[in-house]
Amino acid sequence: MRKWITAAVLGLLCVGGAANAQGDGPEGVIQGRQAAMLLSGVAMGSIKASIDAGQDPATQRFNTRALARWAHAVPGVFPAGTGPEAGVPTKAKAEVWSDRAGFEASAARYAAAADRLAELAPGEDADAFAAQWTVVRQSCNACHTAYKAD
Ligand code: HEC
Repeated sequence: MRKWITAAVLGLLCVGGAANAQGDGPEGVIQGRQAAMLLSGVAMGSIKASIDAGQDPATQRFNTRALARWAHAVPGVFPAGTGPEAGVPTKAKAEVWSDRAGFEASAARYAAAADRLAELAPGEDADAFAAQWTVVRQSCNACHTAYKAD
């Protein structure tokens, strides 16, 4: 993913504005990450609905695996040149790049929390699964507070 995005950004440098019109380059990357963020919200809502309905955590294996996979991909979908200066609507704050270590640490906490949720999904411990959902939710909010405009 990271290599692909690097290639996309390099490609944009070569072909200039024409790439933007095709949804490549910064615009494509920004729209892709926004869509994936929205879909992660869909997955979180679906997992929560299953918890509230008292369903077996095992029913959430696919959702939690998808969420964990995405969580690990987050730093790679915020490459240089896709911030507020890109001229494309984005709520990513400049701090994503000016405080890169902090942003990556926040993404790593999210990935670790999502990994744990996926580990708990095949198990029998519904209470631990529900508690971990809240940990994941908090990791979303922590990053948004620091790195996403309202
Ligand atoms: C490491 C930081 C980070 C984490 C963790 C994170 N987000 Fe985000 N999220 C962002 C940033 C930055 C944006 C703004 C992206 C943009 O507009 O280009 C965003 C945008 C969003 C959006 C708005 C998308 C849109 O354009 O309408 C939603 C919804 C969202 N995130 C949901 C989530 C959920 C749910 C989680 C946890 C399961 C999560 N995010 C975890 C950083 C993060």
